[in-house]
Amino acid sequence: MDDHFSRRDLIKGLALFSLAIPTVGLLSTSCVQTTGREDKNTTEAHTYYTLPPLPYPYNALEPYIDSETLKIHHDKHHAGYVKKLNNALRKLEEARNYGNYAEVKFWTKEVSYNGSGHLLHSLYWESMSPNGGREPRGQLKEKIDENFGGISNFKKQFTAVANSVEGSGWGVLAYEPLGDKLIILQAEKHQDLAIWGAVPLLVCDVWEHAYYLKYQNRRIEYIKNFFNVINWETASKKYKLLRGEKKPETGT
Ligand SMILES: [Fe+2]
Repeated sequence: MDDHFSRRDLIKGLALFSLAIPTVGLLSTSCVQTTGREDKNTTEAHTYYTLPPLPYPYNALEPYIDSETLKIHHDKHHAGYVKKLNNALRKLEEARNYGNYAEVKFWTKEVSYNGSGHLLHSLYWESMSPNGGREPRGQLKEKIDENFGGISNFKKQFTAVANSVEGSGWGVLAYEPLGDKLIILQAEKHQDLAIWGAVPLLVCDVWEHAYYLKYQNRRIEYIKNFFNVINWETASKKYKLLRGEKKPETGT
C-alpha cells in the first residue's frame, strides 16, 4: 500500500476538497458569505458570495501587470461573476420556493460558470504577489521535481498549456488526490476541462481581459511575465494543507 494511494487517502483527499474553500485557506473566507442582504429592492434576497478585496494595491504588480488592467479585472470582471453567481442562486431559491423548475437548467449552468469564475479569480489574486517570482520550496518543490522533472520543465509545460488555451480560459496547477499527483490543466471559459476532485493550487488567467491592455495579442509575453510575480508561498501552503502529513497505516 506504500506505493499506491489508499482508499483512506482518497476519502481524506475528497473530504479536504469539500472542506477546502471555507476552512483551510484554499481561498479566503471573505469570498464566501452565507447570510446578508444585497439588493435594496429585494430585501429578502440572500448574498451568498462576496467579492474579496485585492490582497495588494492596484499598482503592486507593475510593470508586469499594469494597474489599469488589475483595477478593471478585479472591480468589474470579478465583481460581475460574483453578482451573477448570487443572482443565479437566488433564481434557484425562487424555483424551490415556487416549485417551478422550468429554467433550472439555465440557472444551474450559470452557477457553474460564474461560480468557477469567482473561485478562479479569487485564487488568481493569491497566485501573484509583489514579492513573488521566486522558486517553490519544501514539499511542493519536491512534488514538482517528482511529477515534472524539475521547475524548469514545469514552467515550460505550464507556459505551453496556458498559451494554447482555446479562446478564453486558464492555466491551472492542481493537486489530484486520487493519483496523489500534481497536474497542469487547461480550463476553457472557467468551468470546462476540469477533473473532478482536483484542487487548483495556482492559476494564470489567459482571458484577454487579463492582459490585452498591456500586451495586446502577445499572450505568451504576459504568461512569461506572470512568472515574475508568481506566488509560490501561497501555493505551497495550500499544497501542504491538502496533502497533510503522511501517517503510518495502523491496519485499523
Ligand atoms: Fe479574468
